[in-house]
Amino acid sequence: MLSIAVSKGRLLDAFAELLEEAGYPCSVLQKATRKLVISSSEAGLEFILAKPADVPTYVEYGAADLGVVGKDTLLEAGKRVAELVDLMYGRCVMVVAVPEAAGIDAVTDLHFNSRVATKYPSIAQAFFQQHGIQADIIPLHGSIELGPIIGLADAVVDITETGRTLVENGLKPICEVMESTSRLIANPVSYKMKAVEIHALADALEGVLNRENC
Ligand code: PRP
Repeated sequence: MLSIAVSKGRLLDAFAELLEEAGYPCSVLQKATRKLVISSSEAGLEFILAKPADVPTYVEYGAADLGVVGKDTLLEAGKRVAELVDLMYGRCVMVVAVPEAAGIDAVTDLHFNSRVATKYPSIAQAFFQQHGIQADIIPLHGSIELGPIIGLADAVVDITETGRTLVENGLKPICEVMESTSRLIANPVSYKMKAVEIHALADALEGVLNRENC
């Protein structure tokens, strides 16, 4: 059996749908339950329901053979895991955003040592360094858009999907940092020890994705 760390919610539904299409029955995931480990003996998969930011950790330590996580979270975590498949869903864009009223249209307009609130401190730090901009990165765990509203920060680095949260909080994007989609990742040891099962799953998922994109 392969264990796979996933996070709950809409993205899990998308992954479950993809698995079904790839021939891995996982209707067990649709049952309302508070269980954190759910097995599908038919599919030969054991699902570990984790917080998104923790998925790379479970996989790095081998507590899960595989994981499904956004590229943004994966890059931020900087864990030693193998990235196997771009699952193509959960698409979002990480941006630098500022208050509409700030009169700033480009990152180069940001003042020296501007305070930047973010859930992605490593990515943000690297981004500003690459652009030769000195910024004071303020790590937060969520509701990042609050930062500029209450005067904690001058800008944010955050992901947008529909763009609604930025607009409703009076912010506008001024620069794209990266695009992100969900990825299938593997523990490097599991990848060798369970090569047959992992390749079969990765190939089946890729088969569905290729068919969908034709
Ligand atoms: C994410 C992100 C934005 C929002 C963007 O937050 O941090 O706040 O979604 O989505 P939108 O462009 O469709 O409006 P999440 O829902 O993960 O909650 P959080 O702010 O507590 O991290």
